[in-house]
This record gives sequence, C-alpha cells and structure tokens, in this order.
Amino acid sequence: MPTTKVSATTRERLLRSARKVMKNAYAPFSNFRVGAAILTSKGKVFVGCNVENSSYGMTNCAERTAIFSAIASLGPELEIAAVAVTNAQGVPCSPCGACRQVIYEFGPQAVVLYEGKNGPKQSLITELLPEGFRLK
Ligand code: THU
Repeated sequence: MPTTKVSATTRERLLRSARKVMKNAYAPFSNFRVGAAILTSKGKVFVGCNVENSSYGMTNCAERTAIFSAIASLGPELEIAAVAVTNAQGVPCSPCGACRQVIYEFGPQAVVLYEGKNGPKQSLITELLPEGFRLK
C-alpha cells in the first residue's frame, strides 16, 4: 500500500469525525473521553470511542473500536491510510502501545494525527511503533 498524503481537507474531516464520536465515549472511571476516526485506502471513514468497564482491563480504546467497527463492516481486507485521535482534555495523546500494534496490522504506512489544544501533531505509525510485529 503506498503512503497516502493526507490533504488538509481530509485531515479536518477526520478530526471533526473524531471530535463528534468522542461525545459517545463511555468513560466513567477515567473521565478521559477519546474519539478516533480512521480513513481507509478507499476513502471511507469509520469512527470509535473508548468504552470502559468496571473490570478496568476490559476497556477498549477509541482507536481499536474504530478499527474493529471497520472490519465488521468491510471485512478483513481493511487498509488504513490515516487515523485521527482526539480527547476532551485537549492534550495531544498519541495512541497507546496496544493500539499502535493494531493500527500497524492494517496500516503499516498509516499517518497518525493526534490533536491537543494547539492543533494536531502528525506521525507515521512506523515512527510511533518501529519494528512492529508481523507474522507474515
Ligand atoms: N484511551 C484511548 O481510548 N486511546 C488511547 O490511545 C489511550 C487511552 C482511553 C482508554 C481509557 O478509557 C482512557 O483513555 C484512559 O486511559
């Protein structure tokens, strides 16, 4: 999959989608509401929010919710071109380690945007996760 350049319009579309879905987060334990939007190589957008649980370890991050929703809708051929993440605290939080590995599985060249109060930061998934794990 070739590296995709994300235009300013697409970046804003993804960030807007992430901000919107963030409002649906179930985060009564951390009060840290997160929204994510992924762009597929075919131009579709899927969104997700974090879903916590009384058994804390069962929590699902916003990024993985979006990716799993895309797989459920499109099937296993998903190719992620870009991921945008936002949170209600306005801190530029990049995806956690587990989510980096899941993003890498479906988007080894994905662009990752994570926004805080001062606007979005941008990295490649390979900068956030060098030497990502692959079975094939
Ligand atoms: N969280 C995400 O949704 N994405 C991340 O990349 C980091 C953390 C969520 C998990 C938990 O519900 C809350 O943020 C605090 O860790």
